[in-house]
Amino acid sequence: MRRRLICGNWKLNLGPASAAALAGFLRERLAEHGDVEIAVFPTALSVPGVLAALAGSDIGVGIQEVAAVPSGALTGANSAVMAREAGCRWMLAGHSERRQFFAETDEGVRDKIRAGLAAGLRPVACVGETLAQRQAGEVQSVIRRQLDKALEGLSPAQTSDMALAYEPVWAIGTGVNATPEQAQEVHAFVRDWLRSRFSPEVAQGVRILYGGSVNAGNASKLLGCPDIDGALVGGASLQVGAFADIVSAACAGR
Ligand code: 13P
Repeated sequence: MRRRLICGNWKLNLGPASAAALAGFLRERLAEHGDVEIAVFPTALSVPGVLAALAGSDIGVGIQEVAAVPSGALTGANSAVMAREAGCRWMLAGHSERRQFFAETDEGVRDKIRAGLAAGLRPVACVGETLAQRQAGEVQSVIRRQLDKALEGLSPAQTSDMALAYEPVWAIGTGVNATPEQAQEVHAFVRDWLRSRFSPEVAQGVRILYGGSVNAGNASKLLGCPDIDGALVGGASLQVGAFADIVSAACAGR
């Protein structure tokens, strides 16, 4: 059985002091969290303080964005190698906000995932359709294209080190989550894609997270779906109580 994974994407919120404080509260509140794996993704400037606040705990820390190369003349970018050196275990790739506001391409996502894996980070690769694409009946073709490119050239072992996240763009930050049925349908499609691209073993092992307006009220139903292995939580991950409740929902059986 796949171990549940709950991730908090703090986006561009919480500077060093408030991020470290939230991490400290989470550490206390989540001292007991069953077999659920937890990771938080602070903004890069807050990563060191969060790592310090979580030192010795089993809550992982990830970086939200890395460049495709480890170092060089790339003003403003983050390096996967440096993030790993700092103590990060995880990274995000392909988030729709990066695609939308920073002109991230499928090829760029692929190259960043490769850079992260080479540096020893575990990527959480995000895919998801816009509302217009859903209304046009293009959900599967969009997700397939994003997966084909993001995981191009990866070995089964590399893929098994990753998690995938289905984040429908229309559900992010809108308060309108995908219904469990809508999410499960896409998650099953993603798992089928993993099966045909790699193997039944890879498909069985890779965790597929749902993201988009997950909160304490809807987490149980979403996490009760057979192919939803966790959540990538935005807004609700900024509140200790809400995030802890989502972790509790993940602790409960399927
Ligand atoms: P919200 O939970 O705020 O909708 O954000 C989801 C998300 O983008 C997580 O990466």
